[in-house]
Amino acid sequence: MNSFSFYNPVRLHFGKGQISQLETELPQYGQNILVVYGGGSIKKNGLYDEVMAILKNLKMNVFELSGVEPNPRVETARKGIEICKKESIDIVLAVGGGSVIDCSKLIVAGAKIDEDAWDIVIHKTAIVDALPLGTILTISATGSEMNAGSVITNFETKEKYGWGNPLVMPKFSILDPTYTFTVPKNHTVYGMVDIMSHVFEQYFHDATNTPITDEMCEGVLRTVINTAPKLIEDLNNYKLRETILLAGTIGLNGFLSMGSRGDWATHNIEHSVSAVYDIPHGGGLAILFPNWMRYNVAVNPERFAGLATRVFNVNPNGKSTEEIANEGINRLSEFWKSIGAPSRLADYNIDDSELETLVEKSMINGPFGRFKVLQAEDVREILKMSL
Ligand code: NZQ
Ligand code: ZN
Repeated sequence: MNSFSFYNPVRLHFGKGQISQLETELPQYGQNILVVYGGGSIKKNGLYDEVMAILKNLKMNVFELSGVEPNPRVETARKGIEICKKESIDIVLAVGGGSVIDCSKLIVAGAKIDEDAWDIVIHKTAIVDALPLGTILTISATGSEMNAGSVITNFETKEKYGWGNPLVMPKFSILDPTYTFTVPKNHTVYGMVDIMSHVFEQYFHDATNTPITDEMCEGVLRTVINTAPKLIEDLNNYKLRETILLAGTIGLNGFLSMGSRGDWATHNIEHSVSAVYDIPHGGGLAILFPNWMRYNVAVNPERFAGLATRVFNVNPNGKSTEEIANEGINRLSEFWKSIGAPSRLADYNIDDSELETLVEKSMINGPFGRFKVLQAEDVREILKMSL
């Protein structure tokens, strides 16, 4: 393992009815609250009314920012920052998915500086402070509810970057599986692909002797694989929803990276694809990850073969390590297809016309990936395999 320091101060309130925790969490921060949400799903499923009733009881001064887009845009965060400054907001409450939470993270940091919010994303401005942030998660996918990361898009420049800072970690996050019942099938699938991809990114890392986190990763993967086919047939099933909800949080709250640094190359390439084509993050990963694996299997076939036998039930008898490894990758690809995830860029009508733009965007900070460092020619090849 690598030496590491671990810090995660997010208080999780998990389970049915945990929204009542707002009554104890919120008053300590002040009266002026900005509620941030997306395109309207929380109004349709009643969560908006539930939140507003609690805030009314607490006699809070409520301000709202609605319409945060999937792949949240810097322009929307700027609007939220303006409200925070003008109305002396004391706390921001994000009610939604990773996009709403990520946008809110930029708002709480941007509210404390004079410079433009995009400067934070591109690391031009240092974050010195942040408003407190609370979240109510409505879709299981990103882990943003319990991590320091945020991913923001600037469609003017076709750029989408991740940034992060411990100062923007939520003070608390409320995870009630019933709020995820209304997530449609396609987004439920994208979320599960994202969760599995986060585990893969951390499983393929830069360290040796990591048996604890290896087992944790494999356990999360097996659980998602066992749960996903049942969940897509039974979207209102509490037990299945709660399993996936916790998987999403564990998948990216730092536990799986203790002692190692993950690869994260596939996420970097996917962010470029989303920046140019505005496709769902999980959909992009479902296309790219099996091809990243095929391209890099030779780096450490034993590791891929272990994954194949322990997670994808590949029978190793009479097969070479390479054969086992490749069979595992094919099973992953088949599994994602079987639950309805896309498998080719063509599924989103993406052809090779912007291939060089995608390569260029991916390479903007130089070669990347820790399991295998990718150069421009590697990225180009993985994208070509994904067309
Ligand atoms: O906008 P609304 O109306 O709320 O609809 C959303 C949106 O259309 C809908 N939805 C969410 N909860 C729902 C629901 N619909 C019905 N019922 C509910 N309960 O689902 C759609 C997708 O929501 P979004 O928040 O975009 O999904 P997700 O949580 O997958 O977030 C994706 C974003 O997070 C970034 C991605 O790049 C992408 O921009 N990521 C953030 C990470 C992080 N902060 O750590 C890491 C990830 O790897 C990822 O890159
Ligand atoms: Zn992701």
